[in-house]
Amino acid sequence: MAELTYAPDRWASAPAEPVIELEGVTKTYRTGTVEFQALRGVDLRIGVGEYVAIMGPSGSGKSTLMNLLGCLDTLTTGTYRLAGEDVGELDEIDLAEIRNRRIGFVFQQFNLLPSLPAWRNVELPLVYGHVPAAERRRRALEALDRVGLADRARNRPGELSGGQQQRVAVARALVGEPALVLADEPTGNLDSVSTADVLSLLDDLHTAGSTIVLITHEADVARRAERVVRVMDGLIQSDEVIR
Ligand SMILES: Nc1ncnc2c1ncn2[C@@H]1O[C@H](COP(=O)(O)OP(=O)(O)O)[C@@H](O)[C@H]1O
Ligand SMILES: [Mg+2]
Repeated sequence: MAELTYAPDRWASAPAEPVIELEGVTKTYRTGTVEFQALRGVDLRIGVGEYVAIMGPSGSGKSTLMNLLGCLDTLTTGTYRLAGEDVGELDEIDLAEIRNRRIGFVFQQFNLLPSLPAWRNVELPLVYGHVPAAERRRRALEALDRVGLADRARNRPGELSGGQQQRVAVARALVGEPALVLADEPTGNLDSVSTADVLSLLDDLHTAGSTIVLITHEADVARRAERVVRVMDGLIQSDEVIR
């Protein structure tokens, strides 16, 4: 499998190589005998270090797209190349490896494990990556420090506010220094102060060289990105560089 490590310098010399390359991608859901085509032919290229917002109304296919980009689901037709590798040709082990070690996820519902203290949640991607325990702990605490929660490492998610839980989720997303960070409505359940915190953390990640795909239906949130892709009824409607 091609190297897909966090290495902005190497990539900077080869800007033609996209991190994400979708060609003619469709996704059809089947429920019993009923079929629904949630994506109807999507072409999209995202280069290394780009910060892209994907916008669209509810039901337009944003989460479907995110699940495909994150290798959480498989496409129906078309191709998805991730760092040059055809995802359709990878087996389940390679896909799990990509998900756990190369992609950082932030979800609207935080998706933290309630029984584990914050730092145990943050170290999870490293557990899957077979990083030794002492190093996992050190890196988890460092990631919590980056999101301003060093003093909350031992708290369980239920003992934290929504904004703090999402910052823990961001720490978990960045702990493995992923090549790609995917955030699906990360501020959808947050108040304005916590929204500002999370968006500024994403800005920091972008500045540090990560490629970020941020899914949102809020224009204010999308404006933080450099490029806005609008999705409507399973198709890309517009694709605009905004800064
Ligand atoms: N697992 C599924 N089975 C059937 N239909 C689905 C499934 N997931 C999503 N859909 C449908 O696909 C469309 C796009 O959904 P989604 O990607 O979640 O949209 P968005 O995130 O933009 O709100 C919607 O009409 C939704 O009802
Ligand atoms: Mg959605």
